[in-house]
Amino acid sequence: MKLYRKTKRVVVRPLELSDYETWKSSHLEMLSPQNTWDLTAKTEKELTRAQYKKLLAGRAKFRKKDYFYDMGIFNLRGDLVGTVSIMEVTRGISHTAYLGYRIFNKYWGKGYGTDAAKAMIDIGFKEIKLHRIEAGIEPKNKRSIRLARTLGMRKEGLKKRAIYLRGQWVDLLMFTLTTEDVGIKFNPKTPLLKPR
Ligand SMILES: CC(C)(COP(=O)(O)OP(=O)(O)OC[C@H]1O[C@@H](n2cnc3c(N)ncnc32)[C@H](O)[C@@H]1OP(=O)(O)O)[C@@H](O)C(=O)NCCC(=O)NCCS
Repeated sequence: MKLYRKTKRVVVRPLELSDYETWKSSHLEMLSPQNTWDLTAKTEKELTRAQYKKLLAGRAKFRKKDYFYDMGIFNLRGDLVGTVSIMEVTRGISHTAYLGYRIFNKYWGKGYGTDAAKAMIDIGFKEIKLHRIEAGIEPKNKRSIRLARTLGMRKEGLKKRAIYLRGQWVDLLMFTLTTEDVGIKFNPKTPLLKPR
């Protein structure tokens, strides 16, 4: 499975041990949160090499389980500018997962989010062999909704009280792509269940 894509603006791939310094500086250089969905900066204590190794080990385990694929987004200068993921893979009769994306605020508005999400969708369909990719977005997160639309994702509706965030259940607008939408023939990694 090739978990790597290079676009005009970014490289998307899993983080490696040798990325520690850029990972640390990306977090240290982050501006204060720019909106509700933006990341709060990690403390120095959370940015040690030991913590980083733990993080990588956890991500590798999830990938091996075919459950969660979390990737770093690098610009062409080699800075870590964000993360993009395929989360909570469900096989059986659905072959579905969620798409997640986050660009560190210093790098917003440069096309990195668009490029990285496109690359991850390609990986999701062609390498992880998904049939459906969904993005769940809070209705007020206009930047993210614009990005989902740029990606050509179809709005499917409002999922009420979908996830527990900031101490409450929040609704999510669901945006979706299936292999049919992007002209890819679905070829499951694990066979679909036979009908009972
Ligand atoms: C949502 C988020 C991922 C967008 O990332 P981004 O890298 O700023 O997105 P892009 O730069 O690709 O696109 C944003 C805008 O910049 C524009 N842009 C500016 N310079 C650009 C360039 N050189 N090339 C392409 N687009 C550019 C795009 O056209 C787009 O404009 P539009 O929205 O008016 O069409 C980012 O704001 C983020 O991480 N937010 C916090 C976390 C979050 O909300 N995650 C999603 C949870 S559902």
